[in-house]
Amino acid sequence: MHILVLGGAGYIGSHAVHQLIDRGERVVVVDNLETGHHEAIHSDAVFYQGDIRNRDFLRGVFAKESIDGVMHFAANSLVGESMEKPLQYFDNNVYGTQVLLEAMVEYDVKNIIFSSTAATYGEPESIPLTENMSTNPANPYGETKRTMEKLMKWTAHAHGISYVSLRYFNVAGARETGEIGEDHRPETHLVPIILQAALGQRSHITIFGEDYDTADGTCVRDYVHVEDLIQAHILAMNYLKNDSPSDIFNLGSSQGFSVKEMIEAARNATGKNIKAETGERRAGDPSVLIASSDKAKEVLGWNPTRTAITKIMEDAWKWHSKNPNGYQSKKE
Ligand code: UFG
Repeated sequence: MHILVLGGAGYIGSHAVHQLIDRGERVVVVDNLETGHHEAIHSDAVFYQGDIRNRDFLRGVFAKESIDGVMHFAANSLVGESMEKPLQYFDNNVYGTQVLLEAMVEYDVKNIIFSSTAATYGEPESIPLTENMSTNPANPYGETKRTMEKLMKWTAHAHGISYVSLRYFNVAGARETGEIGEDHRPETHLVPIILQAALGQRSHITIFGEDYDTADGTCVRDYVHVEDLIQAHILAMNYLKNDSPSDIFNLGSSQGFSVKEMIEAARNATGKNIKAETGERRAGDPSVLIASSDKAKEVLGWNPTRTAITKIMEDAWKWHSKNPNGYQSKKE
């Protein structure tokens, strides 16, 4: 199989590329390196640097490489930033996907696995979240991902493309070898921020609110190991190869951990005394988000094995402690 991975230099995309190459697939990576890192790209992948919104560039890649399927991770993904720059998010995420789908139609590429998010649901109707619940995104990021799902749905209907949309919950951890991992600039995600505090790069972690209606008052999230997450993408690609119908699946661990529990897990994994202070609530944070991933398990045969929070934290720590300043080639 020749798989085109869009956003293959990013945190999640780079883990996909490594697992695909481990399995003997030929991988073509496209990334504009705006948020991705050159060093994260597997040396056996064919790499094209460019932007998916550049129609001629993208068509050129499809013309040159014989692509059997696409994994699409190329998008902006920060909730807070999306509130300030909605038009950038619609342009990069939605328009970028439109150009991609046009190229897929033109070059007769039938299968796409899509990186979606729990942010498509908005404030949850009830917990755990299932795929048939209503979607009411609370920010432009979630809205663009929901719109991208709709773009795929109608393009699939008209042009015989098949898609699987995977709605991620809180992705964390890193490849067990510690060679690739999470490096966002600026960093906003809980696990890397806690580990930056463990490394002494921050004096403390600020807990965004301790007055939520949860057992210890801090927000509860469903953390899924990036390597388990990517296993689901590979299963989804095989699912589509078998002519199964387009569908949407949640990917989480079906268990929730509070911010305080995550900090405690990090203290155990790192042996460091990580200082925590209580701050204000962050706007738009639901108190609890936990996935039901039963559908992915039943239909795709997904079998996540790294669900223990200690495992997620230990693997994230391997990356952060080996690479305290992240990828070196990145300009600040
Ligand atoms: N948090 C803190 N302090 C910090 C950072 C985060 O207390 O310094 C808390 C947040 O308030 C939240 C939890 O830690 O309760 C997790 O926060 P993240 O920013 O790591 O993740 P989110 O749950 O906000 O967002 C994740 C993904 C998004 C996706 C969303 C879906 O990162 O891309 O889940 O709901 F949209």
